[in-house]
Amino acid sequence: MKVAVFSTKAYDREYLAAANKGRHELVFIEAPLNSQTALLAQGAEAVCCFVNDHLDEASLTQLQQQGTRLIALRCAGFNQVDLSAAKRLGLTVARVPEYSPHAVAEHALGLIQMLNRHLHRAHYRVRENDYSLNGLLGFDLVNKCVAVIGAGKIGQVFAQIMQGIGCRVIAFDPQPNEELLARGVKFVSLDEIWQQADIISLHCPLTSSTHHMINADSISRMKEGVMLINTGRGGLIDTKAVILGLKIRKIGYLGLDVYEEEGDLFFEDYSNQVLQDDVFARLLTFPNVVITGHQAFFTREALTAIGEVTLANISHFEAGELDKVCCV
Ligand code: NAI
Repeated sequence: MKVAVFSTKAYDREYLAAANKGRHELVFIEAPLNSQTALLAQGAEAVCCFVNDHLDEASLTQLQQQGTRLIALRCAGFNQVDLSAAKRLGLTVARVPEYSPHAVAEHALGLIQMLNRHLHRAHYRVRENDYSLNGLLGFDLVNKCVAVIGAGKIGQVFAQIMQGIGCRVIAFDPQPNEELLARGVKFVSLDEIWQQADIISLHCPLTSSTHHMINADSISRMKEGVMLINTGRGGLIDTKAVILGLKIRKIGYLGLDVYEEEGDLFFEDYSNQVLQDDVFARLLTFPNVVITGHQAFFTREALTAIGEVTLANISHFEAGELDKVCCV
């Protein structure tokens, strides 16, 4: 089957080609998918996309008219896809529901310790021959209250990691996780999360009900100096409200791997250009904010699993084994 792979980077090429083992004709395209670039998928029965490709009605219609039948997402989240348009057009949408929950959960821990122990600042101090400790004071994680919002595959691993460190873990999820309940994690209301948590980590999907769940109102209910970690999706947070929270020091630390307007920034090198996003630029000025560019998933193990499941989805679709395709 001919597969047009959009938003291709060198690592995508390497891991997808290794998983393909020559089964399908993979056409690697560097451009992201949108209604203009959809033309590049001419003749491809399957299109393989990533988190910031524009799978809106216009792109999907163009793809369908050119003969595409399968959208094979090489990611878990699918908020970038207009699912009702895909359904209307008869397109199958597949994804990789799980590749390495550990990759994302461990990255969340990385952000926590970077912020807590000021590792980003400490690293540069030592390189400057400055060994002073002023401003680098941290806190012990043991006995702190950590809240997990979205206790699914990633949230569960994250909760277990934090329990291993000795934190008290509470969670909010409309469908409480049995394994975490058995491990003593208390499922509470969002209001209790805002009141009790020293650290809040977001691991729920972006939907109309979770959009901007972190907003001026929820921030006002949080503990003074709370640490907020978002490795979920940028739209979970109202960034302007968070900036105000940081300015009045209500939010003590902010760790982001995702950003609501990341589609115009992340995964590309703009180091020679002027940053046009003033909200993002403001975030970068805070000493207690650490941002990574949607790299939480980026481990060897995760890329291997993403390649294997994506290619398996394509092969099963081609063989008419729809029950074996991880459909959205
Ligand atoms: P999952 O589907 O296993 O878990 C999501 C959990 O969120 C479920 O338990 C669900 O019941 C819960 N949930 C749904 N609505 C909720 C709400 N309103 N409030 C609280 N919880 C709610 O998904 P998984 O694999 O754990 O991934 C979670 C999210 O992490 C994905 O949706 C994706 O957006 C993000 N992600 C980020 C990556 C990165 O590189 N930064 C990589 C992979 C996923």
